[in-house]
Formats: sequence, structure tokens, C-alpha cells
Amino acid sequence: MKVLVTGGIGYIGSHTVVELLESGHDVVVVDNLCSSSFQTTNKIKEISGREFEFHQIDLRDKTELNRVFEVHTNIEAVIHFAGLKSVEESIEKPLSYYSNNVVATTNLCEAMTRVGVKKLIFSSSATVYGDKNTMPVKESDLIGKATNPYGSSKIIIENMLTELACSDPDWQIISLRYFNPVGAHQSGLIGENPLNNPTNLVPCVANVAIGRLEKLKVYGNDYPTEDGTAVRDFIHVLDLAAGHLKALERLSFPFSKMEVFNLGTGLGHSVLEVVEMFREISGRAIPIRFSERRDGDVATSWADVRKANEVLNWYAKRSLEQMIIDAWRWNVNHNKSFELSA
Ligand SMILES: NC(=O)c1ccc[n+]([C@@H]2O[C@H](COP(=O)([O-])OP(=O)(O)OC[C@H]3O[C@@H](n4cnc5c(N)ncnc54)[C@H](O)[C@@H]3O)[C@@H](O)[C@H]2O)c1
Repeated sequence: MKVLVTGGIGYIGSHTVVELLESGHDVVVVDNLCSSSFQTTNKIKEISGREFEFHQIDLRDKTELNRVFEVHTNIEAVIHFAGLKSVEESIEKPLSYYSNNVVATTNLCEAMTRVGVKKLIFSSSATVYGDKNTMPVKESDLIGKATNPYGSSKIIIENMLTELACSDPDWQIISLRYFNPVGAHQSGLIGENPLNNPTNLVPCVANVAIGRLEKLKVYGNDYPTEDGTAVRDFIHVLDLAAGHLKALERLSFPFSKMEVFNLGTGLGHSVLEVVEMFREISGRAIPIRFSERRDGDVATSWADVRKANEVLNWYAKRSLEQMIIDAWRWNVNHNKSFELSA
């Protein structure tokens, strides 16, 4: 199948493009490289041993986007990763989040409608559950009140896609609600590579382990959890990528309305557990400093994954240990030019 992948040079997108290419799909990637690097295109080709088409385009540019669908007339489905993802940044710059997430998705759906491509997989997030505090969360739980503009943008998009699928039964849309993706490809060639200061936990821990950051800031040690730090459902990025291939298979069968799946492991681990695991695996000191809870963060979040298990036949296979081993390998490789502190 020929698949258009937006944001395919980013963290989750690049791992999914590798899986798609290795499974024999043809891939066209659209990415404006606002938070990723062109070098990743070569790494994807090196790992998969295959070529793919890359267009450096901003999804907000309708003319360029329409042109991609005109050039590639045989695109059958779209996997839509492109967007901004930092909770903190979204509180500072809400308009960027509505523009890059909501406006960009509207443009994409319009461009798809124009050429009759109506199979879409969307990157949603556990953040749509808001501050709900009964865990694990199920897809049938009501969408919560967003705690930040990033979360609002994902909720708006999910609502828009639900209405789009209701308006026209030819649309087949799957929204995948990711929990906390971590880890990297086992080759050590691609991984999470934020161009700006990272805000996700594992890249921050890695920055301390390699000596680029003095201390890890842990937001909140007074949550009602076992050790007081926030609990999350960490999932290996390769398990997540595999979930997209299962969702793509699902698009070959008729179904009505938008379908939603949680992609997580169903297990919760605290921030301190992750830090301890990182210390063991890297053999490095990871000094921490507790600070106030961060705006927009919830105490606990983990997934009920039975629907994805049963309907998609998808199971997360990799342990937290494997996630950290792979993340550490990637960070050591990626930072070779950076002098690792003893
Ligand atoms: N990583 C996470 O923790 C996480 C969790 C839940 C959901 N998600 C969602 O998954 C998707 C992918 O996340 P990621 O971690 O790979 O992020 P990422 O920042 O690594 O990748 C996103 C990619 O989209 C591109 N992009 C952004 N705006 C664009 C635009 N207007 N036009 C074209 N390209 C654009 C960026 O250059 C980047 O390559 C995002 O939609 C994100 O909200 C991520």
C-alpha cells in the first residue's frame, strides 16, 4: 500500500516509517522539519535498506499539500503525526498549537477529500482524558477537560474527525491515543531527538546522564502515588510503531464512524522508577532536584489496552528495561561528539 506519513521525520514517525518500509509498504513523507532533522531521512533509509519520497512542506501550506496528492496519485492512506507536542510550550504559545495541530489537520483532511483519499490514522494522546483520576482509562471513558492548549488541540481534532467520519461513511478514521512513548530503534541510529530543550522525561534524564544537564528537575513529589512522583504508562516507540501497522490493516476492513484505541502497556511506572532504572543501565549518576508540580500535569495515567489487544490484535511486547536500554544506546551514539562526563 502507498502511505503518506506526515511528520514522518519526527520521533514516532521515523520509527513507523521504518516499520512500514520493512513491511513492504511504499511511503511518502511530508514534514516541515520544524522539530526534526533532515539527517534522519538517511538513517531511515540505512536501517530499512529502502528508499522513500520526502517533501519538506508545512501542512499549513494548502497549495504545496495539494501538489503532493497530485504528484502521488496512488496514495491509499495517511498516517498523521505532524504537530507540536510540548505541554509546557503550548501554555506559552497556544496559537502555535492551534495552528500546527488543528489548522494543519483541517488542511490535510481537505486535501484528502479533494482527491478521494479517505483512510486516516491520527496521533492522539492520553492527554484527552484530562485530569480523570480513575485508572486505567478506557476508550469509552468520557473525554476529560483539557488541562492545557496541547490537550485542547487534540480534543478539538478528535471531535472534528468524529464528525467528519459521521458526515461521510466513506471515511475510515482511526485515532490512536498514545501514552508515553520512550526508547529508540535497536540500531541506535534513530531516537527521540528534540531540536529544542526536551520536556519529555527520558530525553531529560539522558541529558543529565551524559553530563549535558547538571540535575534532573522532577516536577512534584507530593502526588498521591507510592513515591510521590507522577506515574505514567511508558511504551516502547517500536511497539507504538507496530500499533500503526495493525491500524493500517484494520483500515482494509469496512467499519463505520471513527475508531479510537489506547496504545500503552497497561502498566504504570513512577518518574523515580524510571530514573533508578536509567541509573542502573547507564551506570551514571543522575542527581535530581524536586520542584513544584508542572501546570497541566496529572498525577497518574495508564491505559486499559484490551480494546487494542482484541480488535487490532496488537500487544506491547517490550519492558521498561528494554525501553531504557534502547534509549541509552541511542543517546550514547547520538552524542558521541559530546564529551561524556565521568
Ligand atoms: N512523543 C510523545 O510523547 C507523544 C505522546 C502522545 C501523542 N504524541 C503525538 O504524536 C505525534 C508525533 O509525536 P513525536 O513525538 O514524533 O513528535 P516530533 O516532534 O518528534 O515529530 C513531529 C514531526 O512533525 C513535524 N511537524 C510539526 N508541525 C508541522 C507542520 N505544520 N507541517 C509539517 N510538519 C510538521 C515536525 O517537524 C516533526 O518532524 C504528534 O502529533 C504528537 O502530538 C506524541
